Amino acid sequence: MSPPTPDQLQNFLDIATEAALQAGTVLRSYWGKLDKIEEKGRPGDLVTAADKASEAKILEIFGRHLPDHAILAEESGQLGDRNGEFLWAIDPLDGTTNYAHQYPFYAVSLGLLVRGVPVVGVIYDPFHDELFRAAQGLGATRNQQPIQVSQTRDLSSSLLVTGFAYDRRETPDNNYAEFCHFTHLTQGVRRGGSASIDLAYVSCGRLDGYWERGLSPWDISAGIVVVQEAGGRVTAYDGRPIDLWSGRILASNGHLHEAMQRELGQVQPLSVP
Ligand code: IPD
Ligand code: CA
Ligand code: CA
Repeated sequence: MSPPTPDQLQNFLDIATEAALQAGTVLRSYWGKLDKIEEKGRPGDLVTAADKASEAKILEIFGRHLPDHAILAEESGQLGDRNGEFLWAIDPLDGTTNYAHQYPFYAVSLGLLVRGVPVVGVIYDPFHDELFRAAQGLGATRNQQPIQVSQTRDLSSSLLVTGFAYDRRETPDNNYAEFCHFTHLTQGVRRGGSASIDLAYVSCGRLDGYWERGLSPWDISAGIVVVQEAGGRVTAYDGRPIDLWSGRILASNGHLHEAMQRELGQVQPLSVP
């Protein structure tokens, strides 16, 4: 099968943009009005009516325009063949904990994998009305303007971001040691609470690098495309090609990549009581 043409990619990008903007309208309509917040299993892993309504809107739009594409959506699971040619990784509300606390840092994240490779990404932050979009070979934009990663070349001048997965209380591989390690070496490490916005901010140079473990393909597929198309680099922690299903990601402006890789390879887990 031949790869999608630029016109096809643009069409997928436009459909995903429509879905992300409409899902964003849904999220804005629930903002501050949630009366029930459930835990999905692990403590702190929340789901709300807003997550579900946003996902329903996205699935309706994809079902109408792209009925033969498979879906991997956080709340509905898998629809269609995960190993088929086209698979959309959908996070209807990335940053649910922030959203539930009315901390305005959350997004809709829609990434298209073609035979397993992320090639289209749309991340929409409805609170700040910021739309990040990219498709392979077509560049990356923020609100229609081309974007690029930062030029920061030293960790000592960098601002990084990371996050902590919902299993952090159950595993020594909880990212606490890495957080302390990089906090020491850089101008700071942020914990945004929305993996897709963390990646979007690397893509437009607000942040210089990002690493995290315990993630799912819907958290990062869109952001991978946006960072790569903005000139950044995305790999596994050790610099090998990223495995979307491993949960781990290292993304940077490219200049800091090897230094981040080296430091990640040296960190010893902290023991937490
Ligand atoms: C979470 C956010 C957070 C990351 C977690 C994710 P959710 O997604 O992206 O930044 O640290 O690992 O699960 O649950 O809000 O969609
Ligand atoms: Ca998420
Ligand atoms: Ca989510």
